[in-house]
Amino acid sequence: MQSRSERNAPEGAPQHPVVAIDGPSASGKSTVAKALAQVLGIAYCNSGLVYRAITWSLVRKGLELDRESAFKTAVRQMKIECRIDENELHVQVDGKEPGEEVRSPAVNAAVSRVAASSWLRERLLPVFRRLAEDRSLVMEGRDIGTAVFPATRFKFYVDADPKIREQRRQNQGETDSIEERDWEDRSREAAPLRRAADAVLLDSSEMTVEEVVRRMLDELRKRGFPVPEGASVP
Ligand code: DC
Repeated sequence: MQSRSERNAPEGAPQHPVVAIDGPSASGKSTVAKALAQVLGIAYCNSGLVYRAITWSLVRKGLELDRESAFKTAVRQMKIECRIDENELHVQVDGKEPGEEVRSPAVNAAVSRVAASSWLRERLLPVFRRLAEDRSLVMEGRDIGTAVFPATRFKFYVDADPKIREQRRQNQGETDSIEERDWEDRSREAAPLRRAADAVLLDSSEMTVEEVVRRMLDELRKRGFPVPEGASVP
């Protein structure tokens, strides 16, 4: 196979078609990203899971996140493995999958700080990009359309009214503050949450999951994504 430089592909140009879905917490992007991947019959990757798994490991070790050199040493020593199995991303740190613990209050409280590290984000770029080397996928996060796969033509930014997002978060049984998380994700220096200029903005406040996915399918067809024949939303 030709290397990227041989093909002169721009940085962040995936080898297979990638749908990038970004947006703030509880905007509904995970639900629609999963549903869209299923309709398209391709893999679904939640990039936040990688930040959460790393945070989970650091929290278990009792590491003080403000100590930069200890943070870097701990991350350097971690064995972070990402694999796609049955069209879904699985993350192991040092041979262990954190499971439900990635959503624990301790991880919720620390993950934005971990994700704010430009050093860590730089290290994770090739990890995320590698996932698209063998297959097409839907990847959701905060910077997928702006930093991870800026060259993909298939980008969405899913948002919703903050009050509705707060309600959705509570319905998920989580107690972290949307406002605080938004501020941290938007104001950080490294790859802050923002809509890519060429991303389609979808406000899911008053839309059902099916409506959002239908809009996405229409847009993907228009932009030339290889949507399988007969793909439709029930
Ligand atoms: O989507 P989530 O709530 O599981 O993400 C967890 C944290 O990771 C959140 O603070 C945002 C951050 N994140 C990020 O900075 N970049 C991504 N691509 C995905 C998540």
